Amino acid sequence: MHFAISMSKNLIWVFVILPNFFSLALSDPRASESHLVCGADKNPYNSSFIPNFYNVMHNLIKQVANHLSGSYFVATPSPAIYGMAQCHRDLSPVDCQVCFSEGRVKLPKCLPSSSARIFLDGCFLRYDNYSFFNEATDPKYDYVNCSSSKEVLTDKSLLMDFNSKVAQVIKNVTETAVVNKGFAVSEVRGGVVAVYALAQCWTTLDADSCRLCLNLAGSKLRQCKPGAGGRALYAGCYMRYSTERFFNIAVDTEEGPDKGEFNVRVGIRSLELL
Ligand SMILES: *[C@@H]1O[C@H](CO)[C@@H](O)[C@H](O)[C@H]1NC(C)=O
Ligand SMILES: *[C@@H]1O[C@H](CO)[C@@H](O)[C@H](O)[C@H]1NC(C)=O
Ligand SMILES: *[C@@H]1O[C@H](CO)[C@@H](O)[C@H](O)[C@H]1NC(C)=O
Ligand SMILES: *[C@@H]1O[C@H](CO)[C@@H](O)[C@H](O)[C@H]1NC(C)=O
Repeated sequence: MHFAISMSKNLIWVFVILPNFFSLALSDPRASESHLVCGADKNPYNSSFIPNFYNVMHNLIKQVANHLSGSYFVATPSPAIYGMAQCHRDLSPVDCQVCFSEGRVKLPKCLPSSSARIFLDGCFLRYDNYSFFNEATDPKYDYVNCSSSKEVLTDKSLLMDFNSKVAQVIKNVTETAVVNKGFAVSEVRGGVVAVYALAQCWTTLDADSCRLCLNLAGSKLRQCKPGAGGRALYAGCYMRYSTERFFNIAVDTEEGPDKGEFNVRVGIRSLELL
């Protein structure tokens, strides 16, 4: 309960009066589904397949709870199943488990496909019949989903300003994530519309695969402009930009000790709007 300690006393009433509201404002597991892909090939019936699947999932949830990511495989008895889970690094451990659980509930829709992957807004989950842990791209399944453009961007100079902000945050997270253990957020404010971006490589990737994935994802994602947002959903990484601030962390202070205080400020600001 880090936030409770760093909070000043005269704010205690906020928690007493509106505990439910506050806990909602405090965190966001970003557990909404953005893309589920079931592999086209079905696994031939084998009594070991489903138990192996659950064995892998069970191990992943233990790793995710401790590290925000995990990978595991079961090779015997065959058929082999490889699994991987990854939360975006701005999620708290609790939010990560919420996001993972949501993906974990939806992924079995694909059974008995021999592979499947699901992208949620805060995490990723995949299983397959081979070791894919260092896979950067996959032309068959890599996907970019763009949203439509904002109505306020009717003016030509506003549009140019917006497009250049999108290019800037994408460039920024691409360059920063590669040298920052695979994670970065960026924002450009000022003017009529702000733009926010986040990049996350899976932690099983080496630096070269991470760079390769982010470069490809970024160049495709750039083509979403002047769309108000977009998500690049790649085999080895995730990148998103939006005009809404969708991440849980201050730019430039990721994982800092003030994370709790930052969340408190967000909570108080939301209360003022009531
Ligand atoms: C694209 O994104 C929208 C909004 O998040 C979602 O509703 C839609 O299902 C996505 N499309 C695909 C094919 O995943
Ligand atoms: C994985 O599944 C695919 C499709 O069913 C199959 O072609 C491939 O040989 C399998 N790979 C392994 C290592 O079992
Ligand atoms: C199917 O499962 C049995 C054990 O339940 C195992 O011995 C066998 O190798 C499996 N066959 C295939 C094709 O995976
Ligand atoms: C990314 O943006 C931050 C501020 O948001 C800035 O401090 C940093 O220098 C930028 N990095 C790159 C590589 O553009």
